[in-house]
Amino acid sequence: MKESEMNDPTFAIDIRQSKISDVDAINELEKQVFSSKMRYGPSLIMAIINTSLPHLAQTAILKDQNTIVGFIAGEIDSRNPLLGRIITIEVDPKLQHHKIGKQLLLSFERKISDHYSVENLELQVHYENHKAIRFYKKHGFSEVKKLKNYYARKEHAILMHKLLS
Ligand SMILES: CC(C)(COP(=O)(O)OP(=O)(O)OC[C@H]1O[C@@H](n2cnc3c(N)ncnc32)[C@H](O)[C@@H]1OP(=O)(O)O)[C@@H](O)C(=O)NCCC(=O)NCCS
Repeated sequence: MKESEMNDPTFAIDIRQSKISDVDAINELEKQVFSSKMRYGPSLIMAIINTSLPHLAQTAILKDQNTIVGFIAGEIDSRNPLLGRIITIEVDPKLQHHKIGKQLLLSFERKISDHYSVENLELQVHYENHKAIRFYKKHGFSEVKKLKNYYARKEHAILMHKLLS
């Protein structure tokens, strides 16, 4: 997509704190982007939104259409207040590659660093999710190590890390 098209108002988004009423739409997004083994499902999405600290679950809404097109959620490590973790990020497949993921990630990083003084971020990503690994590397994450059988047998994860400035 060209830069001029990026400014097309069709793709302008708002990012706001997630609400319980977002759960169904986020669940539909999940069904489109994750295999059944990798999905949280509505109960866990609700629990994530319900228990998330302020600012750490954010929803992207397509302006004008009021449609949910992205979601990011994270947490702060219970033993280390300087360490944050991204639990999930997802963007509607029809709108991927249009920088919605970038806006969600940057907004999340800003909030977790401003409101909670987090200095380091980590995440786990499926080792074969090359698109997401490329996305994270583009945004300053680096691979720390492979976590063997992290999701299930032969379903390994890559632990990634970023030092927030
Ligand atoms: C990872 C994800 C959130 C990125 O969101 P996005 O809105 O597409 O990302 P952006 O447009 O901001 O960033 C694009 C970058 O991500 C990568 N990327 C995103 N979509 C891609 C695609 N369809 N094909 C190849 N690379 C892609 C590229 O590195 C790209 O950089 P570029 O635009 O300079 O080429 C999105 O692809 C997604 O929802 N994936 C499925 C869910 C998932 O795997 N989440 C991570 C779980 S840990």
